[in-house]
Amino acid sequence: IISLLVLFIVVSGFSTIKIGAVLPVTGGISAFGQLVWEGVQLAHEQISSVLGEEIQLVLVDNRSEKTEAANAVSRAIDREHVVAIIGEVASSHSLAGGQIAEDKKVPMISPSSTNPLVTEGKKFVSRVCFTDPFQGGALAVFSYEKLGVRKVAVFVDFEQDYSVGLSNFFIETFTKLGGQVKKIFYKTGDQEFSAQITQALSYGADAILVTGYYPEIALVAQQAKMLGFSGKILAGDGADAPELVQIGGEAVEGIYFTTHFHPDAKVTDKSKEFVDLFVKKYGKKPSTLAALGYDAYMILVDAIKRAGKADPVLIAQEIRKTKNFEGVTGIITIDEHGNALKSVIVDVVKNGNFEFETVINPDQFV
Ligand code: PHE
Repeated sequence: IISLLVLFIVVSGFSTIKIGAVLPVTGGISAFGQLVWEGVQLAHEQISSVLGEEIQLVLVDNRSEKTEAANAVSRAIDREHVVAIIGEVASSHSLAGGQIAEDKKVPMISPSSTNPLVTEGKKFVSRVCFTDPFQGGALAVFSYEKLGVRKVAVFVDFEQDYSVGLSNFFIETFTKLGGQVKKIFYKTGDQEFSAQITQALSYGADAILVTGYYPEIALVAQQAKMLGFSGKILAGDGADAPELVQIGGEAVEGIYFTTHFHPDAKVTDKSKEFVDLFVKKYGKKPSTLAALGYDAYMILVDAIKRAGKADPVLIAQEIRKTKNFEGVTGIITIDEHGNALKSVIVDVVKNGNFEFETVINPDQFV
């Protein structure tokens, strides 16, 4: 009996598959991490085992910091022995953490990091979202053609690879269309933007594009209004957290931003199902990052299933063989470089909510 008991303990001890979620749960962009985590947990509730073993989620906080982004991945792999990682959110974090995952040969699947360099030259880092050449191009076309914007002050967060990249990709397409731009720099954590806004005003910008994250976008919007800027304010997916409205209030009304998901867009049958499940569990509509987190988890588990065993190298290969996966943010195919090609959604802030404005498909101009 004792040996049976020991056997049982040994077997059950090995019968879980550990998946890490490396996210910014505290710090500057903590809203992002918490939103992804909501989606991952809901997905885990839907499918909590694979290959006959239970899936155990391990949440590791990167504190919204670049150095922690790398440490957190090391911790997940070396101490928690995860076979794969969901994360990270910000591109600069995925770049830092992704290098560790690559070296240690453990797959990482980012729900949301859109900078092209995140996957470039790597075998173990993939993503379930579109990349910024497409996002920036879509934002440029929408601004020029739909909003009639011609002269844009581009506010670049020079500490964020995401912001630097998205700015450049926007500018490339926008100037090709005939528009004019001026780059104006700031950095993560800045509180005071009057110098930048004054520059935008004297440039005669008819729009300010802030390519960073929600804390600074909200402050720029407030201070721009206060200083008499009456043009449009534009942003990328970094705007997409309810905290944008909580921080910015009235001032963020009318902001247009590109993103990955809207609960009203219902791009697949799964989207509708997901929205219902989410509302039931959390009593609110799902955010973009929750939807992306849900998809990242589901695609990862599907890859583990196809791998046939919880082997990190096999899982990494299978992630990149994901074909026409019905996700909640779209039909997802991950190519051999670890990237996905998906539609860009445009939202506008109205009455304190994110309203669906339009969708731009890859075949429209890529
Ligand atoms: N795309 C952003 C980045 O790469 C992260 C992000 C995605 C933030 C979606 C909010 C919503 O840094």
